Amino acid sequence: MLKDQLRGLKSLAGPFDKFDVDNAPEDPTQLFEEWLIGAIKSRIPEAHAMTLSTVDAHGRPDARILILKNIDADGWHFASTKLSAKEHQVAMQPQAALTFYWQPLGRQVRLRGRVIELSREVAGADFLARPIGSRAGALLARQSQVLDNDEALETGLAEQRRRIEADPSIVAPAWAVYAVKPEEIEFWQADEERRHIRLRYRRMTDSVSWVRERLWP
Ligand SMILES: Cc1cc2nc3c(=O)[nH]c(=O)nc-3n(C[C@H](O)[C@H](O)[C@H](O)COP(=O)(O)O)c2cc1C
Repeated sequence: MLKDQLRGLKSLAGPFDKFDVDNAPEDPTQLFEEWLIGAIKSRIPEAHAMTLSTVDAHGRPDARILILKNIDADGWHFASTKLSAKEHQVAMQPQAALTFYWQPLGRQVRLRGRVIELSREVAGADFLARPIGSRAGALLARQSQVLDNDEALETGLAEQRRRIEADPSIVAPAWAVYAVKPEEIEFWQADEERRHIRLRYRRMTDSVSWVRERLWP
């Protein structure tokens, strides 16, 4: 039975590195970058993949996986097509959560914060760095709409490829880069004995410094 199969699966088996929480940096961005680089060096597939959670007009949560594009003073960047479900959701309620999980390291990071759209220059540079197939898809600007037949997709993509071949500098007006500026970031390190270590950073009202708090596992 599925229930028994699920019970038989191992989770958080380890062994894992210890999280030296007492020497965690004051700035969570620094710690995040250490963990992300650790995940990349450990050759974790798609270490830059994250779950973006948003809410719709009725307060119903929605979530999907995206690629982390950058981190800077604006926050954690992601890129997508406007007119998609996520774009409608952040336009209406500019709050989001990001979740990372690096399974072989037993590490999870959770962020919550405000979403802003970045400049057309940032969006243009991101768009032009993408492979031609991805650019063609974004030029179509139909993400998350109902697809009636595959032929319409193939014809649409071929048409957009021709546009790109004719003008390689073309940028999809619907392409956008957003940043989530965290108010809260939690670092979670698994422990085989279930004494998981949780460290939460909360941004203080001066918006520069952070409070660090341990959480019960
Ligand atoms: C590993 C992975 C990476 C993805 N990266 C992106 C991305 O960077 N941008 C994007 O718009 N969709 C990306 N997607 C597709 C999204 O999960 C999602 O299907 C799409 O953005 C439509 O979401 P929405 O209907 O909620 O707007 C990715 C999916 C996976 C599995």
